[in-house]
Amino acid sequence: MRVLSAAHPGHTYFFSDVVEAENTYVLDITDREAVSAFVEQNAIDLIVNGAAYTNVDKAEEDEATAMKINAEALSVLGSQGVKVIHVSTDYVFSGDEHVPCRETDPVAPRTAYGRTKYEGEKRLLAVCPEAVILRTAWLYSPYGNNFVKTMIRLGKEKESLGVVFDQIGTPTYAADLAWAIFTVIESHVWHPGIYHFTNEGVCSWFDFTLAIHELAGITKCQVRPILSEEYAYKTPRPHYSVLDKSKFKKTFGVEIPHWMDGLRRCIGKL
Ligand SMILES: NC(=O)c1ccc[n+]([C@@H]2O[C@H](COP(=O)([O-])OP(=O)(O)OC[C@H]3O[C@@H](n4cnc5c(N)ncnc54)[C@H](OP(=O)(O)O)[C@@H]3O)[C@@H](O)[C@H]2O)c1
Repeated sequence: MRVLSAAHPGHTYFFSDVVEAENTYVLDITDREAVSAFVEQNAIDLIVNGAAYTNVDKAEEDEATAMKINAEALSVLGSQGVKVIHVSTDYVFSGDEHVPCRETDPVAPRTAYGRTKYEGEKRLLAVCPEAVILRTAWLYSPYGNNFVKTMIRLGKEKESLGVVFDQIGTPTYAADLAWAIFTVIESHVWHPGIYHFTNEGVCSWFDFTLAIHELAGITKCQVRPILSEEYAYKTPRPHYSVLDKSKFKKTFGVEIPHWMDGLRRCIGKL
């Protein structure tokens, strides 16, 4: 959002995080008084929430903290009397599907992270029925730690790498999610509700890694397909978590770039 904000100068931005960082306000979204004061003092009329407890394994051990940040904070953000756009996840679904999930499909989270994120959606809509929720998946960007950067690092360090091929989804460039958020904000009509948004196309983590290495010019690392059971995840991961984006495309009249296109743009910035 911060990078794209330069191309959208018609707004005043207040970027915040729970910890101190350059050009960033410190704000804990679980602190009702602090959030209310921040919204009032800065005359904020729209909140975009990407803050979350995102460590899937740790959430299993400390669901209470995950619930506080992923769910209770959503009642706080949703009750400020301003518009809200909230980022949610494919983990609200079981991952057992075989066709892309629609917004109307039944949810069945299998992890503490998924349960707390789904609870956050419900709590937000209970206090702010006009909110927009964008469920996304497999996010990466040139910043912070993410799968793309890890695979580039490992590809340079190792001669051989096993990557799971039995989990299917859609890698999503964070810049394209930010573009989707601006599409919602700058639409002439406010269209509340839940939407699915990822890049187009599908692949496994194995296929994704091959594409990352090819685009990053990594040739000396052999990438092997492995099963999830060989990787020994602490917390089960969804086998199929492709999201159907028809509602977003139809409502906002847009086409969405393919994941390969997003990956090419991201790697071009590294
Ligand atoms: N990454 C994915 O593949 C993926 C997939 C689907 C959906 N999502 C959703 O997309 C959003 C962004 O995900 P991400 O992977 O970019 O997450 P991330 O890198 O973990 O960023 C989340 C941010 O929230 C901050 N935060 C935690 N507790 C907070 C609090 N109480 N008040 C204010 N900020 C707080 C974190 O700060 P600290 O780092 O200091 O804790 C961190 O900067 C999340 O809503 C996530 O559920 C992500």
